[in-house]
Amino acid sequence: MNKTWTKVDDFFCDSFALQDKALKQVLLNCEKEGLPQIQISACQGQFLHLLAKVQGAGRILEIGTLGGYSSIFLARALKENGVLYTIEALEKHSSVAAKNFEICGVSDKIKLINNDATQALYDLIDKGCEPFDLIFIDADKDNYPIYLELVLKLTRPGSVIVADNIVRDGELINKESQDPCVQGVRKYCQILSENKQTETTGIQTVGPKGYDGFTLTIVSRADN
Ligand code: DHB
Ligand code: MG
Repeated sequence: MNKTWTKVDDFFCDSFALQDKALKQVLLNCEKEGLPQIQISACQGQFLHLLAKVQGAGRILEIGTLGGYSSIFLARALKENGVLYTIEALEKHSSVAAKNFEICGVSDKIKLINNDATQALYDLIDKGCEPFDLIFIDADKDNYPIYLELVLKLTRPGSVIVADNIVRDGELINKESQDPCVQGVRKYCQILSENKQTETTGIQTVGPKGYDGFTLTIVSRADN
Protein backbone atom coordinates (compact mmCIF):
# COMPACT_ATOMS: atom_id res chain seq x y z
CA MET A 1 0.00 0.00 0.00
CA ASN A 2 1.14 3.55 -0.67
CA LYS A 3 3.22 4.54 2.37
CA THR A 4 2.47 8.27 2.16
CA TRP A 5 -1.30 7.69 2.21
CA THR A 6 -0.92 5.60 5.36
CA LYS A 7 1.40 8.13 7.02
CA VAL A 8 -0.98 11.01 6.30
CA ASP A 9 -3.86 8.96 7.70
CA ASP A 10 -1.77 8.27 10.84
CA PHE A 11 -0.97 11.99 11.06
CA PHE A 12 -4.69 12.90 11.07
CA CYS A 13 -5.49 10.09 13.46
CA ASP A 14 -2.83 11.29 15.95
CA SER A 15 -3.35 15.04 15.46
CA PHE A 16 -7.07 14.89 16.00
CA ALA A 17 -6.98 12.05 18.57
CA LEU A 18 -9.45 9.99 16.58
CA GLN A 19 -9.01 6.76 18.54
CA ASP A 20 -9.33 6.46 22.30
CA LYS A 21 -8.23 3.43 24.34
CA ALA A 22 -11.59 1.69 23.95
CA LEU A 23 -11.54 1.95 20.15
CA LYS A 24 -7.98 0.61 20.04
CA GLN A 25 -9.16 -2.33 22.14
CA VAL A 26 -12.04 -2.88 19.69
CA LEU A 27 -9.57 -3.23 16.81
CA LEU A 28 -7.42 -5.65 18.84
CA ASN A 29 -10.50 -7.76 19.66
CA CYS A 30 -11.51 -7.90 15.99
CA GLU A 31 -8.04 -9.05 15.03
CA LYS A 32 -7.79 -11.56 17.88
CA GLU A 33 -11.17 -13.07 16.92
CA GLY A 34 -10.00 -13.48 13.31
CA LEU A 35 -12.47 -11.04 11.74
CA PRO A 36 -11.46 -9.76 8.28
CA GLN A 37 -9.50 -6.52 8.67
CA ILE A 38 -11.76 -4.56 6.35
CA GLN A 39 -13.32 -2.05 8.75
CA ILE A 40 -13.24 1.60 7.82
CA SER A 41 -10.25 3.73 8.88
CA ALA A 42 -10.38 5.97 11.95
CA CYS A 43 -10.47 9.02 9.66
CA GLN A 44 -13.49 7.63 7.83
CA GLY A 45 -15.10 6.71 11.14
CA GLN A 46 -14.68 10.26 12.32
CA PHE A 47 -16.09 11.52 9.01
CA LEU A 48 -19.25 9.48 9.65
CA HIS A 49 -19.32 10.71 13.25
CA LEU A 50 -19.15 14.34 12.14
CA LEU A 51 -21.69 13.78 9.38
CA ALA A 52 -24.11 12.32 11.93
CA LYS A 53 -23.59 15.37 14.14
CA VAL A 54 -24.06 17.81 11.25
CA GLN A 55 -27.25 15.94 10.49
CA GLY A 56 -28.33 16.05 14.16
CA ALA A 57 -29.02 12.35 13.78
CA GLY A 58 -31.25 10.65 16.31
CA ARG A 59 -31.88 7.54 14.22
CA ILE A 60 -29.08 5.84 12.32
CA LEU A 61 -29.15 2.59 10.33
CA GLU A 62 -26.03 0.63 9.43
CA ILE A 63 -25.91 -2.37 7.10
CA GLY A 64 -22.83 -4.51 7.78
CA THR A 65 -21.70 -4.32 11.42
CA LEU A 66 -18.58 -6.48 11.19
CA GLY A 67 -16.91 -6.02 14.62
CA GLY A 68 -18.77 -2.79 15.34
CA TYR A 69 -15.92 -0.34 14.78
CA SER A 70 -17.88 2.02 12.48
CA SER A 71 -21.02 1.50 14.59
CA ILE A 72 -19.20 2.95 17.61
CA PHE A 73 -18.19 6.13 15.75
CA LEU A 74 -21.82 6.51 14.68
CA ALA A 75 -23.38 5.66 18.06
CA ARG A 76 -21.16 8.21 19.81
CA ALA A 77 -22.56 10.92 17.53
CA LEU A 78 -26.22 10.24 18.27
CA LYS A 79 -28.17 12.97 19.96
CA GLU A 80 -29.66 12.23 23.37
CA ASN A 81 -31.95 9.20 23.38
CA GLY A 82 -30.91 8.43 19.81
CA VAL A 83 -30.68 4.90 18.46
CA LEU A 84 -28.47 3.04 16.00
CA TYR A 85 -29.79 -0.07 14.27
CA THR A 86 -26.98 -2.17 12.87
CA ILE A 87 -27.51 -5.31 10.80
CA GLU A 88 -25.01 -8.16 10.62
CA ALA A 89 -25.57 -11.50 8.86
CA LEU A 90 -22.83 -13.49 10.59
CA GLU A 91 -23.32 -14.74 14.17
CA LYS A 92 -19.60 -14.64 14.90
CA HIS A 93 -19.27 -10.98 13.82
CA SER A 94 -22.39 -10.06 15.81
CA SER A 95 -21.07 -11.57 19.01
CA VAL A 96 -17.70 -9.79 18.66
CA ALA A 97 -19.55 -6.54 17.94
CA ALA A 98 -21.82 -6.97 20.99
CA LYS A 99 -18.75 -7.31 23.24
CA ASN A 100 -17.14 -4.28 21.63
CA PHE A 101 -20.29 -2.21 22.24
CA GLU A 102 -20.03 -3.13 25.93
CA ILE A 103 -16.39 -2.06 26.09
CA CYS A 104 -17.27 1.31 24.60
CA GLY A 105 -20.37 1.78 26.75
CA VAL A 106 -22.71 2.21 23.79
CA SER A 107 -24.79 -1.01 24.04
CA ASP A 108 -27.86 0.83 25.32
CA LYS A 109 -27.95 3.00 22.17
CA ILE A 110 -27.58 0.11 19.71
CA LYS A 111 -30.06 -2.41 18.34
CA LEU A 112 -27.89 -5.15 16.85
CA ILE A 113 -29.85 -7.29 14.40
CA ASN A 114 -28.21 -10.62 13.59
CA ASN A 115 -29.94 -11.49 10.32
CA ASP A 116 -29.59 -11.43 6.58
CA ALA A 117 -29.78 -7.72 5.71
CA THR A 118 -32.44 -8.04 3.00
CA GLN A 119 -34.71 -9.93 5.41
CA ALA A 120 -33.97 -7.51 8.25
CA LEU A 121 -34.84 -4.52 6.06
CA TYR A 122 -38.12 -6.10 4.91
CA ASP A 123 -38.94 -6.74 8.59
CA LEU A 124 -38.27 -3.09 9.53
CA ILE A 125 -40.42 -1.87 6.61
CA ASP A 126 -43.24 -4.32 7.45
CA LYS A 127 -43.43 -3.19 11.03
CA GLY A 128 -43.67 0.47 9.98
CA CYS A 129 -40.28 1.49 11.39
CA GLU A 130 -39.79 5.26 11.61
CA PRO A 131 -37.46 6.79 9.00
CA PHE A 132 -33.73 7.09 9.65
CA ASP A 133 -31.75 10.34 9.52
CA LEU A 134 -28.55 8.66 8.36
CA ILE A 135 -27.94 5.30 6.70
CA PHE A 136 -24.51 3.72 6.21
CA ILE A 137 -24.28 0.82 3.76
CA ASP A 138 -21.09 -1.22 4.15
CA ALA A 139 -21.96 -4.87 3.52
CA ASP A 140 -21.86 -7.33 0.59
CA LYS A 141 -21.40 -5.13 -2.47
CA ASP A 142 -23.34 -7.38 -4.87
CA ASN A 143 -26.48 -6.68 -2.84
CA TYR A 144 -26.10 -2.88 -2.73
CA PRO A 145 -28.90 -2.39 -5.33
CA ILE A 146 -31.50 -4.24 -3.25
CA TYR A 147 -30.30 -2.56 -0.05
CA LEU A 148 -30.74 0.82 -1.74
CA GLU A 149 -34.24 -0.01 -2.94
CA LEU A 150 -35.23 -1.08 0.58
CA VAL A 151 -33.49 1.65 2.61
CA LEU A 152 -35.17 4.31 0.46
CA LYS A 153 -38.43 3.09 2.04
CA LEU A 154 -36.92 3.90 5.45
CA THR A 155 -36.06 7.51 4.66
CA ARG A 156 -37.71 10.95 4.81
CA PRO A 157 -36.82 14.12 2.89
CA GLY A 158 -33.42 15.13 4.28
CA SER A 159 -32.24 11.61 5.11
CA VAL A 160 -28.62 10.94 4.15
CA ILE A 161 -27.27 7.67 2.72
CA VAL A 162 -23.55 6.86 2.59
CA ALA A 163 -22.34 3.76 0.74
CA ASP A 164 -18.78 2.50 1.27
CA ASN A 165 -16.43 0.83 -1.20
CA ILE A 166 -17.97 2.21 -4.36
CA VAL A 167 -14.76 2.94 -6.31
CA ARG A 168 -12.90 -0.36 -5.79
CA ASP A 169 -9.52 0.63 -7.24
CA GLY A 170 -11.31 2.30 -10.15
CA GLU A 171 -13.10 -0.90 -11.20
CA LEU A 172 -16.32 1.10 -10.81
CA ILE A 173 -15.92 2.35 -14.37
CA ASN A 174 -15.15 -1.07 -15.88
CA LYS A 175 -18.31 -1.89 -17.84
CA GLU A 176 -16.98 -5.32 -18.75
CA SER A 177 -16.24 -6.42 -15.18
CA GLN A 178 -17.60 -9.86 -14.31
CA ASP A 179 -17.00 -9.25 -10.60
CA PRO A 180 -20.43 -9.31 -8.86
CA CYS A 181 -19.21 -6.66 -6.40
CA VAL A 182 -18.27 -4.28 -9.22
CA GLN A 183 -21.56 -5.02 -10.96
CA GLY A 184 -23.34 -4.29 -7.65
CA VAL A 185 -21.75 -0.88 -7.11
CA ARG A 186 -22.23 0.04 -10.79
CA LYS A 187 -25.93 -0.79 -10.54
CA TYR A 188 -26.15 1.12 -7.24
CA CYS A 189 -24.85 4.25 -8.99
CA GLN A 190 -27.11 3.69 -11.99
CA ILE A 191 -30.22 3.49 -9.81
CA LEU A 192 -29.27 6.75 -8.09
CA SER A 193 -28.55 8.41 -11.43
CA GLU A 194 -32.12 7.67 -12.50
CA ASN A 195 -33.77 8.52 -9.17
CA LYS A 196 -35.42 11.95 -9.21
CA GLN A 197 -35.92 12.01 -5.41
CA THR A 198 -32.23 11.98 -4.51
CA GLU A 199 -29.08 14.03 -5.04
CA THR A 200 -25.74 12.23 -4.95
CA THR A 201 -22.00 12.74 -5.23
CA GLY A 202 -19.10 10.29 -5.29
CA ILE A 203 -15.91 10.94 -3.32
CA GLN A 204 -12.69 9.06 -4.07
CA THR A 205 -10.50 8.17 -1.09
CA VAL A 206 -6.97 6.92 -0.46
CA GLY A 207 -5.59 5.64 2.83
CA PRO A 208 -4.33 2.56 4.65
CA LYS A 209 -6.92 0.43 2.80
CA GLY A 210 -5.78 1.67 -0.62
CA TYR A 211 -7.81 3.46 -3.29
CA ASP A 212 -11.58 3.40 -2.93
CA GLY A 213 -14.43 5.84 -2.34
CA PHE A 214 -17.96 6.35 -1.21
CA THR A 215 -21.18 7.93 -2.37
CA LEU A 216 -23.09 10.49 -0.37
CA THR A 217 -26.80 10.83 -1.11
CA ILE A 218 -29.49 13.08 0.26
CA VAL A 219 -33.15 12.29 -0.15
CA SER A 220 -34.74 15.47 -1.50
CA ARG A 221 -38.17 16.76 -0.83
CA ALA A 222 -40.71 14.71 -2.73
CA ASP A 223 -41.87 17.83 -4.59
CA ASN A 224 -38.36 18.71 -5.85
C1 DHB B 1 -14.22 -5.39 1.61
C2 DHB B 1 -15.38 -4.95 2.20
C3 DHB B 1 -15.43 -3.71 2.79
O1 DHB B 1 -16.56 -3.22 3.34
C4 DHB B 1 -14.32 -2.89 2.78
O2 DHB B 1 -14.42 -1.67 3.35
C5 DHB B 1 -13.16 -3.31 2.18
C6 DHB B 1 -13.11 -4.58 1.61
C7 DHB B 1 -14.16 -6.74 1.02
O3 DHB B 1 -15.15 -7.44 1.10
O4 DHB B 1 -13.12 -7.10 0.51
MG1 MG C 1 -16.42 -1.10 3.68
